[in-house]
Amino acid sequence: MVTCKAPAKINLALHVCGQRGDGYHLLDTLVGFCAIGDTLFVEPAMTGQFSLETTGTFALALAQGDTKSNLVMRAARLLEADARAAGHETFPVRFRLEKQLPVASGMGGGSADAAAALLALARLWGLPEEYDLAGVAAQIGADVPMCLHSRPLRAEGVGERIALLPPQRPLDVVLANPGIGVATPDVFRALKSRNNLGISEIPYLAHDPVWLSGLRNDLQLAAISLTPEIGDVLEALAAMPGAQLVRMSGSGATCFAIHENARTAQAAASQLVDSHPDWWCAATRLEGEAIAERITG
Ligand code: C5P
Repeated sequence: MVTCKAPAKINLALHVCGQRGDGYHLLDTLVGFCAIGDTLFVEPAMTGQFSLETTGTFALALAQGDTKSNLVMRAARLLEADARAAGHETFPVRFRLEKQLPVASGMGGGSADAAAALLALARLWGLPEEYDLAGVAAQIGADVPMCLHSRPLRAEGVGERIALLPPQRPLDVVLANPGIGVATPDVFRALKSRNNLGISEIPYLAHDPVWLSGLRNDLQLAAISLTPEIGDVLEALAAMPGAQLVRMSGSGATCFAIHENARTAQAAASQLVDSHPDWWCAATRLEGEAIAERITG
């Protein structure tokens, strides 16, 4: 059995800097990964075919859909075809996805799950270290290549041009989601301006709320125009003692607050859960380096 963590992704900043001929937007984004996330368990299948079982808090949100369209299954099929074409041996596996992150929430849950599937399969099938997983990842979704790394990074282009950052200070953060899924294409379509400035030169210590406050998430206003509850989440996060910087992640609806310390973050999360029982809220750590023991077995 191989176990692979699929940590929640936060876009500390996301600037939209243009649009390609095929409609995809050019981004400049600063990304980090959290201590919390989904977990993927993978073992050889006895049945001769790929299968996926979902468990955990948000299992139902996924199980209602066709499991074949789940990004884990797409990743498996794509890597199987790619590896076979390159002459490697593969075999079917059973996946169990422990879904702890809300679905379609701007934390890259599905993309992180797909990246975890690629890493776990490469381990189980014994693919060579230098195998081009990023190439397969990019075919699944724009966010999947960065989720292979799961450490602080800057991504440009449509997400495929990745520069890893030096180790950063871990940040205490609160994540909050109003329980409403946001469709990423709709948010991009609602943008008023698509040609904004990129992120300025990134300082060595990028996990600095003061420097970060000069950056933006260009999708934030567009997402609020479609889902006004996102504005309520941002307001509620900002009102908590210890909150230093509040912003939306990805295309929403999850927002985050960087906190002074773990104590104020915990207090804020419990207070938000009490006052908004229908929201999903969590205090966690935005890691400063690669996620520890990401893949085991
Ligand atoms: O690649 P992914 O499936 O995450 O993207 C979902 C949708 O978001 C795309 O189909 C596209 O409409 C939009 N998108 C975009 N520019 C990006 C990433 C996503 O326009 N860089």
